[in-house]
Amino acid sequence: MDKKVSELLNDQINKEFYSAYLYLDIANFYSSKGLDGFANWYEIQAKEEQSHAMLIYEYLHNNGENVTLEAIDKPDKTFKDLIDPLKVGLEHEEYVTSLINTIYTAAREVNDYRTIQFLDWFVKEQGEEEKNAADLITKMELFGEDARTLYMVNSELAERTYSEPSLTL
Ligand code: FEO
Repeated sequence: MDKKVSELLNDQINKEFYSAYLYLDIANFYSSKGLDGFANWYEIQAKEEQSHAMLIYEYLHNNGENVTLEAIDKPDKTFKDLIDPLKVGLEHEEYVTSLINTIYTAAREVNDYRTIQFLDWFVKEQGEEEKNAADLITKMELFGEDARTLYMVNSELAERTYSEPSLTL
């Protein structure tokens, strides 16, 4: 595998684990506010991010590449109100999309079709994640002010369950 592509993928493992950590911190915030449904939604999001990291980890191993695990940054966001974490989440997903796009570009430059095909799943996943994050903001803008409707949104988010990513290596 091309050195640059391999390094970017390796770095993405760390970024995905950081995403998990950030979302766990958001879950932690909502738990402290008594919004267990929001906390559940983000705990599951954190699990998804761990699975993304592991997919890349396995992909590198399957292709004979060495993986180096670096320290994961501390989540250092502060949330001033209930909508703030949702905005942080969307901003973060847009950033992750830009990272995936950078790896995609690097793979394309060296005609690494296998990595391109692997990353296709992530490109689609990022589209879904950005949409989910934006939808949550819309819901909170519409229903967050009123305690009764906020309770209903919280109950809806409590229903989310984890399922393994559809990508097989
Ligand atoms: Fe792994 Fe939320 O992107």
